[in-house]
Amino acid sequence: KTYKIAVIVGSLREGSLNRKLAQAIVALAPSTLSFEFVNIDMPLYNPDLDTDDRPASWTAFRDAVRPVDGVLFVTPEYNRSVPAGVKNAIDVGSRPMGASVWSGKPAGIVSGSPGAVGGFGANHALRQSLVFLNMPAMQQPEAYIGGLGNLFEEDGSVKDQSKGFIETIGAAFAAWVALHPQG
Ligand code: FNR
Repeated sequence: KTYKIAVIVGSLREGSLNRKLAQAIVALAPSTLSFEFVNIDMPLYNPDLDTDDRPASWTAFRDAVRPVDGVLFVTPEYNRSVPAGVKNAIDVGSRPMGASVWSGKPAGIVSGSPGAVGGFGANHALRQSLVFLNMPAMQQPEAYIGGLGNLFEEDGSVKDQSKGFIETIGAAFAAWVALHPQG
C-alpha cells in the first residue's frame, strides 16, 4: 500500500532551508510514501470570512489535506515558537467546527534551524496544538535539526554524515503512518 502524505513547510521564503530539508527527507523516504507539498501562504483565519465566499486558498488547503494518510511538518522556529503561517494553516484546517481536516491523522514533526538548538521550541509548540487536534504525533526519533546551513551539498542533497539520520526520520514516519491507517 502507498500512503499519501501532505508536507507542510513552515517557511514562506523562496530560499528556505527547511524546504530543502523537507525535499531531502522526501528524497530519502521509503517508496511506500507519496508526498505532496501543500501551500500555506493564505490569509489569516477569520471566522467571519469562512462563508460560501471564503478565500479560495483556504478551500484548496482543506481539500489538499483532507484525503491524505498523514502530515509531515517541516518548520523553522520563529521566536521560540512556530511561524505564524504554520499556526494559521492549523487554524484554517481545523474549521468550520466539526469539519476539521486534521482529526486522527498521524503527524511527523521536524524542526530545522541554522542555529544549534534545532527549533526545539517550534517543535514542541506544534505538538501542543496537535494534541488538541487529535493527531498522533511521532515521538521518536525526535527531529531537531540544527546547523541547517551546513547540512546540504551544492546540489541540495544531504551531506554524507547526516544522510543516515535524515533517512531514519522518513523510515520511522512511514512506520508511524502505517500504524495509524485512515478510514
Ligand atoms: C528567526 N530565526 C530563529 N531561529 C531559531 O533557531 N530560533 C528562533 O526563535 C528564531 N526566531 C526567528 C524569528 C524570525 C521572525 C525569523 C525571520 C527568523 C532564524 C531562522 O531559524 C532562520 O531564518 C531560518 O533560516 C528560517 O528557516 P528557513 O526560512 O530557512 O526555512
